[in-house]
This record gives sequence, structure tokens and C-alpha cells, in this order.
Amino acid sequence: MGILLITHNMGVVAQHADRVVVLRNGNVVETDTAHSLFDAPEHAYTRALLAAVPRLPEHASTTVAEKPAGDVVLELDKVGVTYPARRGTAAFRAVDSVDLTVHAGEVVGLVGESGSGKSTLGRVAIGLVQATSGRVSVEGQDLSSISATRLRTLRRDVAFVQQDPATSLDPRLSVGASVREPLDVHSVGTPAERRKRVLDLFDAVRLPAALTDRFPHQLSGGQRQRVALARALALAPRLLIADEPTSALDVSVQAEVLDLFAEIQRELGFACLFISHDLAVVHQVADRVVVLQSGVIVETGPVDTVFTSPREPYTRALIDAVPVPDPARRRHHAALAV
Ligand SMILES: Nc1ncnc2c1ncn2[C@@H]1O[C@H](COP(=O)(O)OP(=O)(O)OP(=O)(O)O)[C@@H](O)[C@H]1O
Ligand SMILES: [Mg+2]
Repeated sequence: MGILLITHNMGVVAQHADRVVVLRNGNVVETDTAHSLFDAPEHAYTRALLAAVPRLPEHASTTVAEKPAGDVVLELDKVGVTYPARRGTAAFRAVDSVDLTVHAGEVVGLVGESGSGKSTLGRVAIGLVQATSGRVSVEGQDLSSISATRLRTLRRDVAFVQQDPATSLDPRLSVGASVREPLDVHSVGTPAERRKRVLDLFDAVRLPAALTDRFPHQLSGGQRQRVALARALALAPRLLIADEPTSALDVSVQAEVLDLFAEIQRELGFACLFISHDLAVVHQVADRVVVLQSGVIVETGPVDTVFTSPREPYTRALIDAVPVPDPARRRHHAALAV
């Protein structure tokens, strides 16, 4: 069977493609066999794309500065989530007895294969899904016993970037209005200041101001993801739950957005639970990583330690499954199940 494989993942290209066509602004800029394209890219854009691929280091760096731990902003204590049985489907235990803390100013990466419970944990942390056992607290407030008014003030401090911005952005609002909405809801500044803030936020995520009047369906997936990030940052949160915030971005835009994320994170100092299936991305942005397998935490530690010398075979298998952007190192993966 012939395959036309459309992707921004250069590792997947290197792993599977015989020939590669590089597209930019609707034009083909380069076409070549995978081997010579990765070996000697001719076009500057192709070179920039390849240079932007985040890679996992082979050895731990020796100069890791441990961040001093601030106050605990998010605490999950033996949290379990069981999705209830519905019309013939059995109940499903998605998360089991998870202990996890995120301190002020700290970025914690959450990784694990598809279906391991990452999004479920993110939703529990923001109170969108109720924990069926254990306790979730945000800034010391137990989410199960919090009053409605206190929850409203807390919501101001906590932002959530959903995995699928196509469904999380309101289709009836222009994307500019979507970014402005949290500012309106919490009456931040004058209307003129809010409009200015929206433009600043668009600029911060490298979106042209001309896009503010468009509706979500009129944007690309990557542009929608940047809108969702801008909206989440609108109120300068103290805690950000980001669920695969860059998965729809091509590597060069992703590199830009990640740099920007790091910059904004340093500047605002928010705590972040950064959910991603891309280990190299997590290595780049996170201080600590938590590895989830079938709803259970199997390993946790500083990113450098866990990714260069994992203790668990499951973590090793996750690392080995990362597609390497080098056609010469093409290989057949063993199944991830260990
Ligand atoms: N509303 C629901 N009802 C029943 N089961 C659910 C529900 N939502 C998720 N699940 C199940 O819970 C498990 C964990 O789902 P979750 O979305 O948390 O995974 P994930 O780690 O985020 O995966 P991905 O990397 O694909 O986004 C999956 O097996 C999924 O099928
Ligand atoms: Mg998910």
C-alpha cells in the first residue's frame, strides 16, 4: 500500500518515510529521499525544522540546579478516579492511589502512554472530574469541601489548557473574545485595557493580531492551540494545568512556543502540571517528571535523572519508543507493553 503520511513529527518521518516533501506557506520548498533530506537538507527552512526537533539527551547534564521548593500549590493525596458504568459498559478505574505535589514556580511533567490517565489527572486537579477516593487540594483548599464563593476566587488562580482546543474553545465566540472572556468575567481593568491585553497575549504566543476576529474553525490546529494557551495565561495564573499544549504545533513553532512558555513561566513564576506524550518536550520544560502507567505512578524524579537513567523498565520502554529523527537509526520497536 502506498502511504501519504502528513505529520510535523520529524522522528516519525525519519522512521517511516522513503521520500519527503517539505511544505511551507502552501509551497513545496524541498523534496528528497528521507536519507539525503536528513543528511544534507538544502533549504534553510528544512534546516531550521530539523534544528528545532527537541531531543532527549543521552547523558545526564552535570550542571542541574535544583529549584528551591516553594509552597505546595497542588496536592493530590491517594487520588483515585473510577468512571461509572453506563449502559452496558463496565465501570473503569482510570487512576489509582496517586500522590503528586506541585510547588510554587515548579513545572512538573506528566508522561505515560495513551490511555494511562494523564488527562484524567489533569481534570481532577482542576475539579472538572471528581476524585472517587483520596483528596485534591489547590493552595491548601480541599476541592471537595470548598465553598462556591471560595471556588470562584480559586478559579482565577488556576488555568487549564485542554488537550483538544477544537472542542474546548467556544465556537460562537471569535478567538479574540475567547481570550478576553476571563478578563471580562473577573472585571480586570477597563474595556480598553482588556482589548490591549488581548493583543499583548496574541503577540506573546506569536499570533498575528489580524486573527482576533476569526472563529475557532477558521484557524489551523496549531493556531487554536496557541489561542488556548493565550486564554489560559490571561489572568496570570498561579497554577497552570497544560494538557498536551503543543501537540498540534510543528517543531519550529513548537520550539518558539516552548521558549516563550519558559520565559512567561519564569516571569510569572506559576506552578505547572505539564502533560505530554513527548518526552523530549517534557525534558525541555519540566523540572520534575512523573511517569504514569495504567493509572498508577511508576516513577518520579528530576527530568535529567529519570530520562537518562530510568529505574523502571516501563520508563525505559517509553524512552526507547521515542522516534529518532535520523533515518539511519530506523528500527523496529518492541511493543510497549512490559
Ligand atoms: N468519561 C469516561 N468514561 C469512561 N472511561 C473513560 C472516560 N474518560 C477516559 N476514560 C478512560 O480512562 C483512561 C484514561 O484516559 P485519559 O484520557 O486520562 O488518558 P490519557 O493518558 O490522557 O491518554 P492520551 O495520551 O491518549 O490523551 C482511558 O482508558 C480512557 O478510555
Ligand atoms: Mg490525554
